[in-house]
Amino acid sequence: MRIKLENLKKYYDSIHAVDGISLDIPENTIFGIIGRSGAGKSSLVRLMSLLEAPDSGAVWYGDRRVDNLPKDELIACRRKIGMIFQNFNLFSSRNAGKNVAYPLEICGMPKAQIKERVVEMLKLVGLEDRINAPISTLSGGQKQRVAIARALATQPDILYCDEATSALDPNTTQSILALIREIQKKMNLTVVMITHQMEVVRDACESVAVIEDGKVVEQGLVKDIFANPKTKTTRDFIKNVLNDKEMVKWSDQTGKFHLHFTGKAPDKPLLSMIAKKFDVEFNIFAAGISHLPEEDVGYMNVDIMGSDEEVSKVVTWLEENSVHVRREQE
Ligand SMILES: Nc1ncnc2c1ncn2[C@@H]1O[C@H](COP(=O)(O)OP(=O)(O)O)[C@@H](O)[C@H]1O
Ligand SMILES: [Mg+2]
Repeated sequence: MRIKLENLKKYYDSIHAVDGISLDIPENTIFGIIGRSGAGKSSLVRLMSLLEAPDSGAVWYGDRRVDNLPKDELIACRRKIGMIFQNFNLFSSRNAGKNVAYPLEICGMPKAQIKERVVEMLKLVGLEDRINAPISTLSGGQKQRVAIARALATQPDILYCDEATSALDPNTTQSILALIREIQKKMNLTVVMITHQMEVVRDACESVAVIEDGKVVEQGLVKDIFANPKTKTTRDFIKNVLNDKEMVKWSDQTGKFHLHFTGKAPDKPLLSMIAKKFDVEFNIFAAGISHLPEEDVGYMNVDIMGSDEEVSKVVTWLEENSVHVRREQE
């Protein structure tokens, strides 16, 4: 299901939690929304998932406007939405299977069919042997798997994940992201991942919108954003995810130029070609690589030493050879 947001606004007294957000999220994809704590992510997802009405603006699912539906239509529409959260929101009084059964009971599915669907859903998330397990006996990752099974039991078109991996350790995060990717493909879902973790965007999302103070400050394909981030907020998110494992540093200095290599750029010996073509020298301070699902992005922090004229020729030449160049002062 395609989701379209038109100039959405939601104010809580003087706080502009959502301050004019427009987004077009294509169907059958995993779309990330990243922002720092307090940026307005949860407020935005409450509007998108029709839990709250916006002060102004519109939400469209496909060709249908859904933010202003009458109550009975709203309830029917919300059945086409699944949601998972950081703290799982499972019923501790129900076991794993009964948690998954809950939304099916609500929509009046016959008992025998519920039983069948619950088994099918728990199988999908790899927990069919824990159907009778009390929630308290499950690990965080298993709880999130039950939450995913419950969210998808009614076969929705959209899955909203609000910080779904924020309470999990890195390995469990990876296994949950892999599960979400697999299920997205299997069920042709539109998945919206709300997160403050750039690794979630890098490892799971095709496109991303970066939000700050209730506004979208940058958006695009994840591989383009990683290769050429336009705002400081985005660069800071990427910096955080380029941990010491991925970045090899030769010096504490950072260098005046940050080079980002994408696509075919690493196939040529660009730096030695430059040293021959232009009257400059390089000093390399750090280098690394980010592995994105479809493409890798290489990074290098360098100084380029030479006359201003030669240096700007080098920058132009690098840009022409699919290397994005950013000067540190910018
Ligand atoms: N129900 C509410 N009442 C008052 N203020 C709220 C409410 N929900 C969110 N806010 C405020 O809106 C801003 C954005 O919050 P939120 O959407 O939770 O951000 P995020 O999920 O990105 O951390 C914050 O300043 C928060 O205090
Ligand atoms: Mg939040």
